[in-house]
Amino acid sequence: MKHLIDIKDLSVEEIKDLIEVANDIIHSREKYSHKCDGKKLATLFFEPSTRTRLSFEAAMLELGGNVIGFSSANSSSTSKGESVSDTIRTVGCYADIIAMRHPKEGAALVASEKSIVPIINAGDGGHNHPTQTLTDLLTIQCEKSRLSDLTIGLCGDLKFGRTVHSLITAMSRYKNIKFILISPTELKIPEYIKEEVLKKNKIEFKETKDIEEYMNDLDILYMTRVQKERFFNEEDYVRLKDYYILNEEKLKKAKKNLCIMHPLPRVNEISKEVDEDPRAAYFRQVEYGKYIRMALILKMLEVH
Ligand code: NCD
Repeated sequence: MKHLIDIKDLSVEEIKDLIEVANDIIHSREKYSHKCDGKKLATLFFEPSTRTRLSFEAAMLELGGNVIGFSSANSSSTSKGESVSDTIRTVGCYADIIAMRHPKEGAALVASEKSIVPIINAGDGGHNHPTQTLTDLLTIQCEKSRLSDLTIGLCGDLKFGRTVHSLITAMSRYKNIKFILISPTELKIPEYIKEEVLKKNKIEFKETKDIEEYMNDLDILYMTRVQKERFFNEEDYVRLKDYYILNEEKLKKAKKNLCIMHPLPRVNEISKEVDEDPRAAYFRQVEYGKYIRMALILKMLEVH
């Protein structure tokens, strides 16, 4: 049995296969509609979610399977003091596979050590979010037709943004990738990502506070929300929340084929006028998320 806790749990080859299956699903959905008949997915969300939870559920339903679960810790026995390990052992008696999100870093790893069914990490605190990264990789492959030779700007909350951490880890395995890390000083990328991922793999990167400084070099601009729930005090959040607001003016110098991504939810960091720009890929990205999760469920349940 294999779990998906960190994006590195999947090899580059396995990711290529998942993207291939997702593309096949996009083109022949009917073929997949009974692949998971009789199987159950449990979505255990100890932290809020719209896209991740619902895309997992939609994915399983489109494969013919069923879904059980909860969408907040308050509605589960966690509120009575039950440990994550006990919850996981219990749910393993009811479901064939579990997708879980938890506010604590490392919670999915701990859960996987106790689980009798495969666990998918749907976000653990400010740490990792491997299935958003699979979504992002399918988006990049579909929008740019490649996963190599790209200059990627990551903008916003690079400190707490788990999607950014997993995406850097994943993209660092492809050829000729450069990163432009755009954030205020307080929200810079954590040292461990710089040391253990970027420097270790000799990946070229630049850090800046100015979103426009390298705009004309970018193939991808990945915007992120300032992660309010991870701040220790409200004042810091209020000061930083509107640091970047991407609008058409700021995109003036950008390439004609720039791909603008965002894991969503968006708060203020992308102005609504950008939604009409053909380079805005974030709502297409939402849809890719369902297809790659369908491919992932098939792989983890060993359905061929
Ligand atoms: C992200 C998350 O939860 O980390 N959203 C998502 O899963 N699509 C990003 C965020 O909450 O800002």
